[in-house]
Amino acid sequence: MFQHVEAYAGDPILSLNEAFGKDTRPNKINLSIGIYFDDNGKIPMLPSVRAAELKVVEAAGARPYLPMEGAANFRTAVQHLLFGADRPAVKEGRVVTLQTVGSSGGLKVGADFVKRYFPNTTMLVSDPTWDNHRAVFEGSGLTVKAYPYYNPETGGLRFDEMLASLKQAEEKSVVLLHACCHNPTGVDLTKAQWEQLIPVFKERNLIPFLDLAYQGYGDGIEEDAFAIRLLADQGLSFFVANSFSKSMSLYGERCGALSVVCPDAAQAVNVLGQMKAIIRRNYSNPPMHGGQLVATVLTDPELRPMWEAEVVAMRDRIQAMRKALHDVLVAKVPGRDFSYFLTQRGMFSYTGLTAEQCDRLKEEFGVYLVRSGRMCVAGLNTRNVEATAAAMAAVLA
Ligand code: LMR
Repeated sequence: MFQHVEAYAGDPILSLNEAFGKDTRPNKINLSIGIYFDDNGKIPMLPSVRAAELKVVEAAGARPYLPMEGAANFRTAVQHLLFGADRPAVKEGRVVTLQTVGSSGGLKVGADFVKRYFPNTTMLVSDPTWDNHRAVFEGSGLTVKAYPYYNPETGGLRFDEMLASLKQAEEKSVVLLHACCHNPTGVDLTKAQWEQLIPVFKERNLIPFLDLAYQGYGDGIEEDAFAIRLLADQGLSFFVANSFSKSMSLYGERCGALSVVCPDAAQAVNVLGQMKAIIRRNYSNPPMHGGQLVATVLTDPELRPMWEAEVVAMRDRIQAMRKALHDVLVAKVPGRDFSYFLTQRGMFSYTGLTAEQCDRLKEEFGVYLVRSGRMCVAGLNTRNVEATAAAMAAVLA
């Protein structure tokens, strides 16, 4: 019956993380998956989230189905977090926000919507991008193409080429952009570059689709929403998928949202309705618990500042690890430029290591990086950073 089902090649990130779990070497180091580990190598339970959980459990009662679009308190709190409560688009009722199963769920619901209402459009993703973007969009039947983004020679952006490519894009192409902390490169657009994109989006009638999975890990919770607010203030229609996996350390709760900024409130009503239909066809309605933790943290006057401080501490720890790794590598491998560790933002660094060098790191030293050369810097700690640098130095020699 199932002879024609071919073997799964595995996922470049999740399957590697599974392989790490099975590795029996005691000194193995996981720099593969985008998860924030604390200095003890543990996934933290944030005190603000723990306090929210106690409140949620205390108040827990019956478990009805949530509406297809998710819990109202979650949706409002997330919309205000992303767009700002007082911004015109929010006040005019032009923004639709739905609770989704992680931001991957938001990408999938958004992709199904794009396929249904813009069936012949092309999805444009950065070269490179998160390994799963292409899979999600192609899985919805969309054609996916790449626009120039990262320049491996300079470690910076090919911004002029990106701009030129978008100027040539078909009208109503959907342009996937990382709102901050680009995954996998760690190289972000500057504010000035975002501003330069606006006339191109308008002239070409393009539809931006922002992915915000690392809010707070770049420059700050508010600062990392810069691009979202800029596009909204500029009157663009666009999508945003966002996640609380990293910012609240709620990976397994699958807490995310999809927002759509529409030209007017009447269109927003119809977009919301059709998004509900798509959710109904996919998984009916989202789960309850994690979303209530997020809504509580975001709206509780004591928990909100606590969480904001916790995000600062996670960001600062990553910065400290970037510096520590950089300094050891500079000493061990003279003549090679490692400044990218200091300039790249967020959880990831694009190391420039080849797939073969990553294989050696894994096999000989138990240091796991994605084969693209992406390192999750948030997996480094004061006990493993020296060993990581030594292993990198060995494969670079
Ligand atoms: C990553 O990029 O490693 C994370 O976003 C986890 C994932 O699902 O790939």
